[in-house]
Amino acid sequence: MKKQFSALCLMLALGVMLIAASPGYCYREKPDDLVSDNSCTHGVKKILVTYDTEHGNTALVAKQIFDDLCAADYSVDLIFVEYFDPAEILNYDGIVVGSPIYIGKWLPGINKLLKRHHATIAQIPSAFFITCTNVRDLTTDNESAPKYQESLTAFMNPVLEKYPDIVPVSKKVLAGGFQFSELYPFQRFLMKLAKYPEGDFRKSDLIDAWAEDLADTFK
Ligand SMILES: Cc1cc2nc3c(=O)[nH]c(=O)nc-3n(C[C@H](O)[C@H](O)[C@H](O)COP(=O)(O)O)c2cc1C
Repeated sequence: MKKQFSALCLMLALGVMLIAASPGYCYREKPDDLVSDNSCTHGVKKILVTYDTEHGNTALVAKQIFDDLCAADYSVDLIFVEYFDPAEILNYDGIVVGSPIYIGKWLPGINKLLKRHHATIAQIPSAFFITCTNVRDLTTDNESAPKYQESLTAFMNPVLEKYPDIVPVSKKVLAGGFQFSELYPFQRFLMKLAKYPEGDFRKSDLIDAWAEDLADTFK
């Protein structure tokens, strides 16, 4: 009886930890991790890059995409999704949307944007990226690699399939990263339990290559 009670308590504790580490619960981005930029105004066409993040890696990827699009002669705004006013969507000629993956899911900020404003987003060219660690070992742009396809099928597509009015011009799975020291305690526990390796797995050249494709696509 005592053993059963202990097992029940352990299961409950693990359940609470799992919920707490899930997107939308223990989730709060840190102000230092947020990157914004509205200084790129020289282009005729205007692109919005918006993202959600918990620990800043997706913000850094979004910033690199912002820099690349700016270098390709677009006007670009880089805005954390919670700071973006959706009434502005139609002021852009294209939108790039990025979310990290937490326990298989996108973060709530982007989900909320899509749920409420998919019909407006559908009126302009849109591109989507996710950051995750599932593709951390892919060093070349190999979209047929099993890990890439798995991430597309398990993480990217289920969200976009909810909004068939949005027909993305491009979808990309990019490697992100995390450090144990930056995680919230429940997350750290979970990631150590799952033996996830920490690190910055971003691949600068793959981000640039995708941004170059986008620059061509948005023309
Ligand atoms: C608690 C936690 C759960 C995660 N879950 C997944 C997952 O299910 N699949 C995956 O490939 N990566 C997963 N990751 C890795 C993150 O998606 C990756 O580190 C991402 O780049 C973090 O972005 P951010 O720093 O912008 O929040 C997880 C990371 C943490 C800390």
